[in-house]
Amino acid sequence: MNSNEAEMAIDNRNNQASDLNVYYHFLGEMISPLCDQNAGNQASFVRKKFILSDMASPITLYISALGLYRAFINNKQVGDDLLTPGWTCYDDRIAYQQYDITSLLQVGENTIEIWLGDGWYRGRLMWEESAVTNCWGNDIGAIADITQSDFLLLKTDDTWVAGLLPITAQGIYLGEDFDARIKKTESADVRILDFNNKLLVPHEIGGVKELSPLYPQQKWRDKNCRTLYDFGQNTAGYIRFRVKGKSGANIRIEHAEVLGKNQYFDNRNYRSARAEIIYTLNGCGEEEYAPSFTFMGFRYARVTITGEAELTHIEMVPISSVPDVKGGFQCGEEAINRLVLNTIWSQRSNFIEVPTDCPQRDERLGWTGDAQVFANTACWLADSQYFLKKFLRDVIKDQRDNGAISYFSPDTTRVRPEIVSGDWAGSTGWGDCITLIPWQIYLHYADEEVLVECLPAMLKWLDYLWNISNGPIIKPPPEWGAHGFSFGDWLQPIGDNRKPRPTIADDCAATIYHYISTDITQKIAQILGKTEIEQQLYERANIIRDAFINEYFSPSGRIAHNDQTSWAFAFLYNLVPAEHYKNAKEYFRKSIIDTNGVIGTGFIGTPVLLPALTKLKMYDLAENLILNRDVPGWLYQVEQGATSIWERWDAIEPDGEIYSPDMNSYNHYAYGAVCEWLFESIAGIAPSKTQPGFKEIMIDPIILPALNPVSAWHDCPYGQITAHWQINNNKVTYSLEIPPNTTGRLMPNTQYNNYTHNGEKILIPTDGHILPAGKHIITFYLNE
Ligand code: BGC
Repeated sequence: MNSNEAEMAIDNRNNQASDLNVYYHFLGEMISPLCDQNAGNQASFVRKKFILSDMASPITLYISALGLYRAFINNKQVGDDLLTPGWTCYDDRIAYQQYDITSLLQVGENTIEIWLGDGWYRGRLMWEESAVTNCWGNDIGAIADITQSDFLLLKTDDTWVAGLLPITAQGIYLGEDFDARIKKTESADVRILDFNNKLLVPHEIGGVKELSPLYPQQKWRDKNCRTLYDFGQNTAGYIRFRVKGKSGANIRIEHAEVLGKNQYFDNRNYRSARAEIIYTLNGCGEEEYAPSFTFMGFRYARVTITGEAELTHIEMVPISSVPDVKGGFQCGEEAINRLVLNTIWSQRSNFIEVPTDCPQRDERLGWTGDAQVFANTACWLADSQYFLKKFLRDVIKDQRDNGAISYFSPDTTRVRPEIVSGDWAGSTGWGDCITLIPWQIYLHYADEEVLVECLPAMLKWLDYLWNISNGPIIKPPPEWGAHGFSFGDWLQPIGDNRKPRPTIADDCAATIYHYISTDITQKIAQILGKTEIEQQLYERANIIRDAFINEYFSPSGRIAHNDQTSWAFAFLYNLVPAEHYKNAKEYFRKSIIDTNGVIGTGFIGTPVLLPALTKLKMYDLAENLILNRDVPGWLYQVEQGATSIWERWDAIEPDGEIYSPDMNSYNHYAYGAVCEWLFESIAGIAPSKTQPGFKEIMIDPIILPALNPVSAWHDCPYGQITAHWQINNNKVTYSLEIPPNTTGRLMPNTQYNNYTHNGEKILIPTDGHILPAGKHIITFYLNE
């Protein structure tokens, strides 16, 4: 097997790890160490010696935990998955893993040792005001079976023993402390927890993996003799280091995403997440360490050494549930290429078991809106099918009886409602993840099962939406947690205080989503052959559309808030009435010209802005917006040195000062959702709605000369698609490779003329020109 084949094998395994078809039924019991020190404190292990009489056939370990586990056989780590068993709504299901451990065993005596950490299960979650520990339970525990050819060799029971680990503090937000002087001695028994083994399901996705390490690009000392390292990339993961020194000396590692003005190591934006490591040496030779039960979001590390010790090696280890990149985009504008790379990094760092908002501060939660706006881009850049499906199962579990979908999932506030006021569920744009994410999974992977699985939850969500204000127009209340509250177009920029720019009101944003979700669910019902539902939703969507037009359009065709988000949605989702189309286009154009070509959209408006402009053939404006380097704009952050996507357009001010550290993240993928437009509109390749999963590939490139030349690739389920265009004196050469067993459909564009296909002149019919699998060269001219 060459290294490419090896990579493929890993991929396939990741894919196969995914659907919940074959279950293993555990015979073991969930055991908890009696020496457990409770959340945040010293971690424990459980251990058992056992005798193996033959190794004639493969031996398998099935394992899971309440909390996080790491398993060792004869002191060697089992597998390379991190943060196992993963994160789900633990009261719904808990993943288990399965490993072939034959190579770690020997005939005769063997030892299995399972380390346990708090993880998401009982470690602290949420920011200070709503902080919760022991969310899903007070007790950590391990469950395991070892089998050989279907015979049970060993299982967790009350004959196991326990002890304390050298890990003296641990938590997802906390970081980890490790005292290497502590010996792992068996000091306690275990007790059997009351646990329902039926909660255990095969891990629905591939494990979290380490990516290739990154090494310091720069290193310097501050005036307090601390050493600072810049790894050149903001990501999620941890530091691995080697150290030599005296017993009792210690190494403290703090993390930061950014340097503030004057190179100040600034991690105020972590808020109450401690996110540091303290390692105490045992003093025997060279010692190596990386944490087991935590991760940090960072680019910089600050190392303080107390006592006699010296670091001999340091590296940053990024981690992710989606280690493999499945798409790339490059063009003649370097800053855009960096933007795409930044999006890949933000996806990696936030696709760790759950699609999170950010990987660094005291949050790291599966915010449903962020995942919703990013889902399409996520599927272009990585194989996100099973990752997002797993998330949707949590979303469904968290759905309230009244149909409201939670603000984030797995939802700590459903399990512990007392930590917040009101019910943190029901925001439009966020809850619409239940209709829009399955739709993207269907388009990208032709996965109909996800539609079947989610349809009941979609219908409950639609009823909830209708019921918020008892009708089509949703009027959200302003308080978080209130019934029908909406985040609207979260973080929509308003410009400077003297002349704020128009922004969409929550009612308009909510009603738009009411329409979009109803319309999409109608299409889904049609695909699934649910004719009655389809008909009802068709009628309901029309009622919402009419009400929307009546409520938000003036007689001259101006939309109520006249902002970029409203316009982009209205055009993209056909909410502009025919009689107003012409005027409306002018208003939209003006809404962009009036801002001097800077972005006026927040979380929900951003992914739709450029697709709407290119749909209307306003290519000049789209080109200006994507290339704009002022704040707010995608390339502003790139110019400021961003290596991942920022939460706020203005997260670092032009003078280098950090904006609002109390809510700021430098690794939030939402605004990276613009990448879907780079693939679908600029490179011109998109999944078709009628033959999804790229069985048919829609081809419709938009030529923005300033981006010349453009190339893109994507590994779709049938193989790799590549597209490339280049413009020379008005003549465009577009080369395309379409994988086997698919066809392309090249759509006509009235802005272009004189098409040829592989040297032959062609006329493109309105429903497109069919391209069989293989290589194609298409040429055309831009209209003068
Ligand atoms: C998160 C978001 C999220 C938002 C909801 C924030 O604290 O970081 O990304 O969508 O709250 O408004």
